[in-house]
Amino acid sequence: MSGAAGVPVTGGATGPGRVEPGRVRIFDTTLRDGEQAPGAGLTVAEKLEVARALVRLDVDVIEAGFPASSPGDFEAVNRIAKETRGVAVAALARCREGDPQRAVEAIRVAERPHLHVFIATSDIHLKHKLRMSREEALAASVQWVRYGRQALGRDAEIEFSAEDASRTDPEFLLRVYEAVVDAGATTVNIPDTVGYAIPAEFGALVGRVVDRVGSGAVVSVHCHNDLGLATANTLAAVQAGARQVEVTVNGLGERAGNASLEEVVMSLRTRPTQFPGLASHVQTEQIMNASRLVSYLTGFVVQPNKAVVGANAFAHESGIHQDGVIKNPLTYEIMTPQSVGLAGSTLSIGKLSGRRGLQGKLRELGVDLEGEALDAVYREAIALADSKKEVTDADLLALVGQQASEVSDGIALGGWSVTSAHGGRSTGTVTLTVGDETRQAEASGNGPVDALYRAVDDALEPIVGWHPVLDDYEIRAVTAGEDAQGSALVRCHRSSDTDEPPQKATGHGLSTNIIESSLEAYVTAANKLHAEARAAAEGGEAAAAQARGAAAGRLP
Ligand code: KIV
Ligand code: ZN
Repeated sequence: MSGAAGVPVTGGATGPGRVEPGRVRIFDTTLRDGEQAPGAGLTVAEKLEVARALVRLDVDVIEAGFPASSPGDFEAVNRIAKETRGVAVAALARCREGDPQRAVEAIRVAERPHLHVFIATSDIHLKHKLRMSREEALAASVQWVRYGRQALGRDAEIEFSAEDASRTDPEFLLRVYEAVVDAGATTVNIPDTVGYAIPAEFGALVGRVVDRVGSGAVVSVHCHNDLGLATANTLAAVQAGARQVEVTVNGLGERAGNASLEEVVMSLRTRPTQFPGLASHVQTEQIMNASRLVSYLTGFVVQPNKAVVGANAFAHESGIHQDGVIKNPLTYEIMTPQSVGLAGSTLSIGKLSGRRGLQGKLRELGVDLEGEALDAVYREAIALADSKKEVTDADLLALVGQQASEVSDGIALGGWSVTSAHGGRSTGTVTLTVGDETRQAEASGNGPVDALYRAVDDALEPIVGWHPVLDDYEIRAVTAGEDAQGSALVRCHRSSDTDEPPQKATGHGLSTNIIESSLEAYVTAANKLHAEARAAAEGGEAAAAQARGAAAGRLP
């Protein structure tokens, strides 16, 4: 197979259509497929924070979103494209009028733009979802790959995905891949969209694609975890010649999620003889920080027994294991906690600690803050040091995450108070300001948090015409100890929402007082809903309709 439409396909470095020999390219889709997990919705500021964590991990490609799906997604992709360097920024688009144009517009400014177009190729999707023939799907694939190549030029990466590839007739699939490579695609992706494949079978399919188009394009895989095989399938694909893997932090993603970045990367690193001469460039010591940040911002708690990043992944409970690990960690540990960034140090930050000390400590944790962002975390850390004996790494990362989730100039919480007694109802009072209007409301509820949430509703409704409706509430301790900070997480939608499903927002609160963190979380979620409502109003009915359409018709 010759190189695609004038694009160089061989050579030393990673670039369009080529991956440096010995390298497995890590394509992170936490911000696109991961963010599609129900309820994981992130704001633009939160997405930027995750993008920074991905840059610190040194992934090769960040798939930043699906720009045609909503104005918010367009903005997030565009800002990540403008503000991140040293990494390729990808945008997803369906093979249909409008989508690829919007994606190109969003990523054109990136240092390394990476357009990702896709269309389903399995008969089941063609017949029941797209109502298209195979030939029509093939023609659309070629048309939009060609468009991408012309719009972005010869130096851009153009990736084509055949959605539901693992359930597609292999002969047709190979025809499609050949045609798109001839039209200018430099990466062909093989998605196991519904997590249906079994490793040996998937490896064999990948091997056939590599034989057919591997000299003209990078072969990539994208595995879902419906049968718990996403990592196994991804690794089988690498052994069969795939050189790009699409993964997410914590395995976040639609339904049972995607192949997890940390599992794939640590497998490559821990079992080099199974992947001779291959490695990723990921800075594995950054894995825990990225995992905690993504978990915090999305509200998806990592299960304790999750491989690599779960709280128990390096904990040894039984006496026999503990004895072995004390004598030699190799007895029961196949990788070191340090290799994934679990150093477990604590920071003594007291009331007199300086900003510089904090900045240095944050750098050790992989977070580079300065200016107003550093000041804000510093103020919070000093306040925390007043109420807590020891401010730990986990506390600091939670403060950084909280700062990223803050939404400015919306609904400001003034004062609050609550009374609660055994056996009786609680009464709460809050004062809120929205713009130049301030309201105080009092309400009673079956507990202090319920009373305060009702008071927020009563204060807010007359001003904005809706109140948040609570869908989920969680509270957990950030660290161990009696003085631990309580991190509250809520998911809410607007009482006025008519969409099915409604747009949801998450809110976080962090305090050593769990009533305060619960209230903060609720007001933060209200703020995000308010900002979204205002953006839709400012963007006009077309933008609002586009946002509604995207929420209703989420991607695979
Ligand atoms: O799972 C899937 O098929 C996808 C494609 C859009 C790559 O996410
Ligand atoms: Zn997917």
